[in-house]
Amino acid sequence: MTDQLDIARPEKARILAVAGARPNFMKVAPLLREFARRELPFDLVHTGQHYDNAMSDGFFRDLGIPEPDVNLGVGSGSHAAQTAEVLARLEPILVERRPNALVCVGDVNSTLAAALAAVKLHIPVAHVEAGLRSGDRSMPEEINRLMTDAISHWLFTTEPAGNENLAREGVPPQRVHFVGNVMIDTLRANLERARGSDVLERLELTAGEYAVLTLHRPSNVDDPARLRQTFEVLEAIHREVPVVFPVHPRTATSIERLLGGRHPAIQTVPPQGYLDFLRLMADARFVLTDSGGVQEESTALGVVCLTLRENTERPVTVTTGSNTIVGSDPETIRLEVRKILDGEGKRGRVPELWDGNAAARIADVLCRDLGHVSE
Ligand code: UD1
Ligand code: UDP
Repeated sequence: MTDQLDIARPEKARILAVAGARPNFMKVAPLLREFARRELPFDLVHTGQHYDNAMSDGFFRDLGIPEPDVNLGVGSGSHAAQTAEVLARLEPILVERRPNALVCVGDVNSTLAAALAAVKLHIPVAHVEAGLRSGDRSMPEEINRLMTDAISHWLFTTEPAGNENLAREGVPPQRVHFVGNVMIDTLRANLERARGSDVLERLELTAGEYAVLTLHRPSNVDDPARLRQTFEVLEAIHREVPVVFPVHPRTATSIERLLGGRHPAIQTVPPQGYLDFLRLMADARFVLTDSGGVQEESTALGVVCLTLRENTERPVTVTTGSNTIVGSDPETIRLEVRKILDGEGKRGRVPELWDGNAAARIADVLCRDLGHVSE
């Protein structure tokens, strides 16, 4: 019996990378750049989970990501339908192209489906951002994380908790590589460009005098009572410090369907491009969010972050970074905002290996194990 796939060391290795939703694009960008630099051939498959210009194509332009070789066009659907569509549509691409490894990132439905399609064809899977656990299995991403990690050959972790979780789950240590955070590679590579964005002027905001908000987790936005209560506390904050809110399409749908189209009385704007959003975060007095990526980016920027969730799968943003978990209790949220406005916001440090070189470390491991030497 074996729980390990044999890793072929072909004459010419080839990678297939998969991305599907907004937070995947900033994670694949530095990986593809490293593969290209090492002349490691790759194909990029876009699953089409996200498809609006503001949720997809704009990031390819902002980040210089090459045009996908294939777009599976799966679109929206229930969890089962979306996951099944990626599985069914990716399989023939894998059969035809026979990559020596599949690289997937993050924890969205496309991540799990891609890993599953590949491993069943005996194509080894590299999971970038492995080992994160919120401990909350009602969160769809937690199921995606557990299952993707269980079938991956290479598990690339962003923080020590990832290694600890995988060790506890019995993953052999030789498969786990603590490499740092590819999302922060992208942040560091683009911060100077982002500082040139004119988004503050367009939105009539003053640096250091506004808060930026993102909200899209089903636990926050799919229940009308919860959404209404959260918006009430945000409206109260907005009366003290302007709150700018790029509205995720899931949340826009909830506002229409659950609140009869009544937008909160804060500054709502469409989802922002990467560079504009990075400038918004970098110059904010503080960030309010339920996003995984935004917790990490605010920590990397040293901007105070309040996370509107009961838990986080990214504990280093709390233990080392500038993040505080505030849950959904209005009083707690108000108190934490008060502290920030009184100058007592949490100061953090940048976590270990969030240094802009995570993708290079990942490419080193893949090239070594696949026997790829650049010419
Ligand atoms: C997905 C991920 C989540 C991630 C988030 C990042 C899963 C289970 N969830 O959540 O982990 O944090 O992306 O943003 O994979 N929609 C559009 N246009 C689009 C995409 C979506 O209008 O381009 C709308 C549709 O109404 C769709 C809804 O948003 O039904 C939800 O999209 P979906 O991809 O299923 O989940 P997200 O909430 O975006
Ligand atoms: N982001 C963006 N524009 C926005 C909101 C977020 O470019 O209007 C970026 C953000 O900087 C981060 C990523 O999107 O790089 C996070 O994605 P999201 O919050 O959708 O997903 P999560 O990280 O929660 O899975």
